[in-house]
Amino acid sequence: MLNDRERTARYLEAIAAVVKQDDVVVDIGTGTGVLALAAARAGARHVYAIEATGIGQVARELFEANGFEDRISLVEGWSTRVSLPERADVLVSEMIGHNPLGEGLIEITCDARKRLLKPDARLIPSHVNLYGQALTVPPEKMKRYTFSTDAVRDWNQWYGLNFDPLVSLAQARNQRIMVKPQRSRDWAHLAPPVLLAEIDLSVADAPGLETTEGITVSQPGLLNGFMVYFELILSENVQLSVSPTEADEDNHWKNMTWVWPHGFPVSMGTNVEVEFYEYRHGKPNGLSLRVLDPATA
Ligand SMILES: C[S@@+](CC[C@H](N)C(=O)[O-])C[C@H]1O[C@@H](n2cnc3c(N)ncnc32)[C@H](O)[C@@H]1O
Repeated sequence: MLNDRERTARYLEAIAAVVKQDDVVVDIGTGTGVLALAAARAGARHVYAIEATGIGQVARELFEANGFEDRISLVEGWSTRVSLPERADVLVSEMIGHNPLGEGLIEITCDARKRLLKPDARLIPSHVNLYGQALTVPPEKMKRYTFSTDAVRDWNQWYGLNFDPLVSLAQARNQRIMVKPQRSRDWAHLAPPVLLAEIDLSVADAPGLETTEGITVSQPGLLNGFMVYFELILSENVQLSVSPTEADEDNHWKNMTWVWPHGFPVSMGTNVEVEFYEYRHGKPNGLSLRVLDPATA
């Protein structure tokens, strides 16, 4: 993750802006310790760097190598199970997965607010915004990752078996693939991005987001993909977005992208309803599209 320079630089910038002299900071999921080091460098009186896995030993080495061993304590264990000798003024965390809420960010932050932080603690990130982008996935990508007619034809031929039922299965329901946003920069974007959710981590208390939003097509084409991506509000002036247009070349995140191998032809002004859920009936995230006025051409 240190190779994701944009991610790390934005976090470091936000930490330098938010952490004040003499703050107590808690870094949940310290990993190599990079964010804890930045907090110490910004003047924190003490940093509690919590890490559940063995990578914490690497962090400990780096705390020493940077001369911060007296101001950063490695706390080994899950943040939800450890206790700290004092409450913190600032929470730093980077627990954003390819599925942004899939690593328990809301639950872990909520627990930290209750047990590890002062009442008005500052949070980095403070908000996670989820956006959706309607797009046209190119045929070669579709062929590679879905039960497309073209792919099934190849498999029938290569293996001498009948894979035809996969085509109708693919027609009946969408599939989720993971796509690096910077690789999708040139795919046609059929509508402006839509804000699916704004999550304020200072109050969010339960997972299970469900949302329905409308989009209006601004560029005619084949709507066969819908990407969900996040934006982190790291401080007043620092944000990090993994949108297809903003993600840097080094970005390591892959965005959840739902695809329909046969797609929906849409024209300018077509209205589409997007339903996204994080959990439903115990099942992790899903997305459905309803084209309200299909193109007739
Ligand atoms: C995405 S890495 C980020 C590492 C580092 N903070 C950085 O920004 O480079 C997340 C780390 O958090 C740890 N982690 C996730 N949830 C945790 C929790 N609740 N308590 C402690 N460690 C956790 C994982 O083991 C992993 O090392």
